[in-house]
Amino acid sequence: MNIIDGKKISSNIKEEIKKEISVLKEQTGKMPGLAIIIVGENEASKVYVKSKIKSCEEVGIKSINCALPENTSEEEIINTIKEFNKRDDIDGILVQLPLPKNIDEKKIIDVISLNKDVDGFKPENLGLLFLGEKKSLKSCTPLGIMELFYRYNIDLKGKDVVIIGRSNIVGKPMMGFMINAGATATICNSNTKNLEEKIKNADILIVAMGKAKYVKGSMVKNGAVVIDVGINRTENGLCGDVDYEEVSKKASYITPVPGGVGPMTVAMLLKNTLSAFKINKQII
Ligand code: GUN
Repeated sequence: MNIIDGKKISSNIKEEIKKEISVLKEQTGKMPGLAIIIVGENEASKVYVKSKIKSCEEVGIKSINCALPENTSEEEIINTIKEFNKRDDIDGILVQLPLPKNIDEKKIIDVISLNKDVDGFKPENLGLLFLGEKKSLKSCTPLGIMELFYRYNIDLKGKDVVIIGRSNIVGKPMMGFMINAGATATICNSNTKNLEEKIKNADILIVAMGKAKYVKGSMVKNGAVVIDVGINRTENGLCGDVDYEEVSKKASYITPVPGGVGPMTVAMLLKNTLSAFKINKQII
């Protein structure tokens, strides 16, 4: 069994990004800028945002932390985004999800300029991903998972891939990547009939369902590649959607939680911000 070390890979990627930014800064006198908007007091979101800001600092991306109170109106959030859309020093705009219940996330994301959508959440960017357009901005977590497959030489062509979870952030864009990679992909959810049978058939299993340690050793095929996107806070600390103890005995490759997919999401945000900078400043 091989552990997929997302922490190490993300650190290598950050080093590559840092070097590229330093060269571009020499050439243009400019550095990429990322605006991060967080609304309210969601503790998990605050932790993620802090980590994103720290990573920006590490690679030479200027970040603006725009923390708005819980009771901010939709209109105020929209106006904040519109200001960042206009700014030449801001290449990427990220609205940390989830937003407070009374805010329409779709309406908010719609306002972000297409070329500043570093989360790849806009319908146009998701559409471009499905069409296999290389230059679109792609959703960070699935993009990070693809990078792990690439760096560990895990071939996807013709493989039976099972994705559990159909979210706009992970499951749906992951499906787009799998179609383009020539895999045979099935997207499941908690209501899927014979879910365990489908899991057992997977050469590659990608789990993003938000249920602590749901996938047990007995459910997976011998030698399967198992990617755990879950981050669950339990009494015993952080754990994924996969029972790591059990499944690691059967998998050929597995991502740990923490230290697997999580750091890759942040690395891909930095990569997308750099891509947006190059597109926006016409450095290709
Ligand atoms: N909430 C959970 N994951 C993400 C992410 O990748 N981006 C944003 N903006 N919000 C999230």
